Amino acid sequence: GKVGVLFGGRSAEREVSIMSGSGVLAALISKGVDAHAFDPGQQSLAELAEQKFDRVFIALHGRYGEDGTLQGALEQLGIPYTGSGTLASSLAMDKAMTKRIWLASGLSTPKFAMLADDSDWAAIAADLELPLIVKPAHEGSTMGLTKVTDVAQLPAAYKLAARFDSAVIAEQFIEGMELTCAVLGRDENAQAFPLIRIVAPDANYDYQNKYFTDDTKYFCPAGIPDEQEQEISAMVLASYRALGCRGWGRADVMVRATDNKPFLLEMNTSPGMTSHSLVPMAAKVAGLDYAELCLEIIRSAEL
Ligand code: DAL
Ligand code: MG
Repeated sequence: GKVGVLFGGRSAEREVSIMSGSGVLAALISKGVDAHAFDPGQQSLAELAEQKFDRVFIALHGRYGEDGTLQGALEQLGIPYTGSGTLASSLAMDKAMTKRIWLASGLSTPKFAMLADDSDWAAIAADLELPLIVKPAHEGSTMGLTKVTDVAQLPAAYKLAARFDSAVIAEQFIEGMELTCAVLGRDENAQAFPLIRIVAPDANYDYQNKYFTDDTKYFCPAGIPDEQEQEISAMVLASYRALGCRGWGRADVMVRATDNKPFLLEMNTSPGMTSHSLVPMAAKVAGLDYAELCLEIIRSAEL
């Protein structure tokens, strides 16, 4: 059938999505799939309906692509799509709602607070304990994110994040090892790929170090004890199911240096598929190359 690869879009991660989607499109075509690009940032839903796609690969990141709104439109149009449904997509796009679900499910995630213009900065810093990560609740790729080490930085960090989003979250910074875990499938058939350990220059895995420099080091296998790998993979699968995710996703995790306790940071329901991205890296270690991974994902498309 005819496959649409949706990329571009109108979120702050448009540039990343173009890198992801071009890769996916080329890979699907290389496998003989009748795949076509479609950019919901520049083309309307009416045009999407006219394309008569049999299914679509969502390679959009951030709002209006990863956040459930497009998923809802595809439901209305009756076009099967990759990844999570509307509810899980909306939940995962909201870092605070995600954390509330995880906490209610007994899953560990750093302590957090919502920030507002009239927040009591000193009280928040005292409660969460410095350093803090301040970030927009609905962004990806570390957009608008600041690590705050001094309470005096908090108002500026809040203002920066508020440029991206009306909801801003402050969370306790977990000093330790940064890991990510890709998941494929759904329900009891969801499977975790090998963990990736990320070592960014100065422990700063920001936009530049994610996509454009070659200074970030990735270890997959992560080189941690088997028992710890199992524990973290099981936690990630539980976090994926708690949100009701399906298709594929990727959870980011910090392991606290002092006691090896893992903390879930967030769930990405439309993870990056760029040349520097993590899901393809982990899939490769699991024996699935980039094009095979794209095929697996498009096969899992549902309504
Ligand atoms: N938000 C980016 C695309 C990721 O998580 O991979
Ligand atoms: Mg993210």
